Amino acid sequence: MHRPDPHSYYDSAQPKARRLQLKLGVDFATKRIDGEVVLEFGANATGLLDLDTKGLEILSVQASGHGPIPWELGEADAILGSRLRLDLPADTQEVAITYRTSPDTMALQWLEPSQTEGKVAPYLFSQCQQIHARTMVPCQDTPVVRVAYKAEVTVPEGLTAVMSAGPAGDEATGDGRHTFRFTMPQPIPSYLLALAVGRLACRDLSPRARVWAEPETVEAAAWEFAGVEDMILKAESLFGPYPWDRYDMLVLPPSFPYGGMENPRMTFLTPTLLAGDRSLVDVVAHELAHSWTGNLVTNASMEHFWLNEGFTVWAERKILRTLHGDDAAALGWAMGQKALEDSLERFANEPHLTVLRLHLTGIDPDDAFSSIPYEKGARLVAALEREVGEDRFHRFLREYMDAHRFTSITTEQFCSFVDAKLPGALVAVNARAYLNEPGLPASAPQFRSTMLDTLTALAAGWAAGERPSASQIAGWSTNELLVYLQKLPRQVTQADCAWLDTHFQLMGRGNHEILVEWLTLAAAADYEPAFPKLREVLLRVGRMKYLRPLYGALEATPRTRALAREIYAAASPGYHGLSRRVVQGMLDKFPA
Ligand code: BES
Ligand code: ZN
Repeated sequence: MHRPDPHSYYDSAQPKARRLQLKLGVDFATKRIDGEVVLEFGANATGLLDLDTKGLEILSVQASGHGPIPWELGEADAILGSRLRLDLPADTQEVAITYRTSPDTMALQWLEPSQTEGKVAPYLFSQCQQIHARTMVPCQDTPVVRVAYKAEVTVPEGLTAVMSAGPAGDEATGDGRHTFRFTMPQPIPSYLLALAVGRLACRDLSPRARVWAEPETVEAAAWEFAGVEDMILKAESLFGPYPWDRYDMLVLPPSFPYGGMENPRMTFLTPTLLAGDRSLVDVVAHELAHSWTGNLVTNASMEHFWLNEGFTVWAERKILRTLHGDDAAALGWAMGQKALEDSLERFANEPHLTVLRLHLTGIDPDDAFSSIPYEKGARLVAALEREVGEDRFHRFLREYMDAHRFTSITTEQFCSFVDAKLPGALVAVNARAYLNEPGLPASAPQFRSTMLDTLTALAAGWAAGERPSASQIAGWSTNELLVYLQKLPRQVTQADCAWLDTHFQLMGRGNHEILVEWLTLAAAADYEPAFPKLREVLLRVGRMKYLRPLYGALEATPRTRALAREIYAAASPGYHGLSRRVVQGMLDKFPA
């Protein structure tokens, strides 16, 4: 027996599924999916097969040519869920499992019409990363196994289903429902399975890119992301031809717990990106870059998550630098530095979670999640690039992509490849310190620009009474203002808050990065004029990146703690299960 992934019951000595055929019946009344999955092995399979499941009701298991076969559902582990063990009769080609999801399954959020823009129809979306695919489909839920898939999704008439796959036709069922078919011919890891169902409209942005959203927001989305084809072209020049045919995007309702999710052929995005000025498109550059770094070359388990995210952050900034220049990229690195420092502080007592090459046996990957794999990882990639030079690194990247297309690799495999192609580079940048030691190595690359130095110096003078002039303020871009706010002391006075709001008109900002940075300062200062806006944002938005700092800042005083509890009581039924878990954990640690 060999289990290569601490977050899966997958045993590499057993048969591997090569393709899934899914039939999913979406029932909004009971908040359940009635599912059938056929696992095809692509060869004759025999013997034990261990699958991952969590909260699934297994109804029947049939092996091709043999009819029903026995199955055994193991005890539920809090992190892994229950092992579903099958014993395949000799020469089984495929096995079919019928099952039902539970109403509170982690991968799925079922939204009431009131939680959507249009307010008239319910909505369903999935989020399988890190290890939640098993709450939607019994499968080998580890990125070491890659599967192609076909799916048939039946939904109430009037709603549209989209998946992380290409469309393959749709038809009315005749009983008030509609079936959508999909096909994903390329092998993907299970965490990239994705489904959304709602009242959806779309707009084409280029011959290969389209944005989907509710009809009420689709025009705004099309305007915000109009530049996506330029990003695809730039990414292709870095990594080679776009490997997934189409690049479509779906703008979700505001409870979506992430900024973006790189579901292949259908990136999922938070509607908080619709700032009205294209100032938040770095998230699209990021999810697009995952088409190569993550989706084409994938981390073999969450212990190697930095291979996905570190490379992607590096690529995202590379794309932005070509499109918007050096200064814009330097600001990106500065914002990343702030996120990295916050995460290092959050894990001050858990230094084992600050290394890139993680050891996660017994640890829920959602609990290990932070900006460290992103920003420390991106700095390691940038250090390698600086060491060998841009041209040589560019050639290396192409070779890396070619050699590992559609495979899932470990940090150790990555290091061997670098050693073979760029001998000496790992030692020269002290890669060991990034991979195996806590914190950030002192030698990590720094990213500076004149503007960044100005903003840093100005913010450092805040406590001594230094303030930007009206003409300085007028010249700042959105991200320059954001970096300035991020560099201010975390504890400002209520008078400071009033000054900031007057001079920057912060309360009315459509850019959620600015708005949330401001509300975080205001919450920590117990600044009452900001409370209505705080409540509004926390009641509407479920993106964990925003909930964490906002609820964290509300720990400041007895009054803000009471406010946090009151808002959470009202907001939590609308939050995603993942967001609820994070915020509940924070509130539990508040002093009484
Ligand atoms: N793959 C991640 C989102 C994710 C990570 C989901 C871990 C579940 C578990 C995605 O690519 C991502 O990193 N999103 C960021 C965007 C940002 C770094 C530009 C986010 O959601 O904020
Ligand atoms: Zn990412």
